[in-house]
Amino acid sequence: MSDLTELSQGDLFAPPDPIITCKTLAELHGLIQACTKCEELAEYRTRAVPGAGPADARVVFVGEAPGRWEDQKGEPFVGDAGAYLTELLEKIGLERAQVFITNVIKCRPPENRSPKAPEMESCAPYLERQLALIKPDLVVLLGRVALERFYPKEKITEAAAVPRRRTVGGREVVFLPLLHPAFGIRRQDLKPEIERQFWKIREALDELATRT
Ligand code: URA
Repeated sequence: MSDLTELSQGDLFAPPDPIITCKTLAELHGLIQACTKCEELAEYRTRAVPGAGPADARVVFVGEAPGRWEDQKGEPFVGDAGAYLTELLEKIGLERAQVFITNVIKCRPPENRSPKAPEMESCAPYLERQLALIKPDLVVLLGRVALERFYPKEKITEAAAVPRRRTVGGREVVFLPLLHPAFGIRRQDLKPEIERQFWKIREALDELATRT
């Protein structure tokens, strides 16, 4: 048997990737909850946190990773940064229940350390599939880690509040990087800037509305 035949037979008989073939968010979230791709995270977590919100949300928020409270409750952004995120959304006329919220990685890193590159790589297909299934018009990238996932060469201080377009699954989607709300908890003096940046979400939505 030639190498080529072996290769093509290997491909032919490879089982279909369940992340790519799953048809619903519920199915995908079941896969995330059972995931053990990152040994350390799977051992350390209480539970994985796939994300929360409507399956047809127009806006998706992507944070960094679950923290302590998210790990306990199984929901994203439920700690102090989450309360501030809810407040910011209300200021711009959005309810939390209208948007889908998730993270770059779905499991809490030990002691809330930053996600490692291989963890972000392993988790990437879940986030990509979430975006493919939800088909949002706007993806808000909260903070450095979320920016790095999609725009690895950019710096959050320069990229924040500058919308850009990107094709996802054949659809044009607006990506908007913003400073992470957790900054506003640690540095009260940054709150006015964070709030100013959040208005860019409203502007992007208003602009999208003129196109449809
Ligand atoms: N909670 C989350 O779910 N993600 C973050 O990035 C911060 C807090």
